[in-house]
Amino acid sequence: MIEVKDLSKRFDSLVVLDRVTFQISDASLVVVLGPSGTGKSVLLKAMLGLMPVDGGEVLFDEKSIQTASELEIYNIRKKVGFVFQGTALFDSMNVCDNIALPLIEHTRLSSKEVKDRVCHLLDVVGMAGKAHLYPQSLSGGMKRLVAVARALALKPKYLFYDEPTTGLDPIMTDRVVALIKNLKQSHTNSGIVVTHDLDTARAVGDEIYMLKKGRMNKLTKIEKELYD
Ligand SMILES: Nc1ncnc2c1ncn2[C@@H]1O[C@H](COP(=O)(O)OP(=O)(O)O)[C@@H](O)[C@H]1O
Ligand SMILES: [Mg+2]
Repeated sequence: MIEVKDLSKRFDSLVVLDRVTFQISDASLVVVLGPSGTGKSVLLKAMLGLMPVDGGEVLFDEKSIQTASELEIYNIRKKVGFVFQGTALFDSMNVCDNIALPLIEHTRLSSKEVKDRVCHLLDVVGMAGKAHLYPQSLSGGMKRLVAVARALALKPKYLFYDEPTTGLDPIMTDRVVALIKNLKQSHTNSGIVVTHDLDTARAVGDEIYMLKKGRMNKLTKIEKELYD
């Protein structure tokens, strides 16, 4: 379980997170909905300690990242697969090497084991046989699928998705949404999806929060139905 307690972050006079409090239970996906510039990416980075905060704390399985040692922070981050906004794939590396990178950096798997794992991950995200391609030759949606495969490389307990469907056509959006749901069900990943897309939020979220003026408000069932 991840517990976010009174998390606050401001840039000079701009209050981005104002005592944000919520929980992500095991095997559940929380969606944070909000228009561009509301602080969704800041929230994800702040939760992982990638950005200093002004107050509050984040607990991963009861361990506070704010008071954790460097080694403990390293171990917490290993539990989290991060699918970055805009994918952040390395253009100079093919799909296989992009996905293999965390395995080479953080495990002692042999090159054969790395290759097998990459093939398995490509299969999971529906990109089997694409290992030799370079990011330039992939569509935006395919890059997103590769980024999910890379985020899964270290078998994370939690997945953080930053705008996973933004900029994708409807067919690719459906594929990415189906993958997110499938990973939750078959691999029991829990995590957080931040998005400005209401359809994506409704399709994947067990709970949906609205981030507005630094505050998180949970959408009730009635409010969710009102959007139908
Ligand atoms: N490093 C930074 N320094 C100053 N302001 C920032 C920084 N990062 C984000 N911001 C501001 O914080 C607000 C929220 O940004 P962000 O979390 O990226 O929004 P989004 O919801 O689109 O992901 C924006 O107004 C942005 O300009
Ligand atoms: Mg963002």
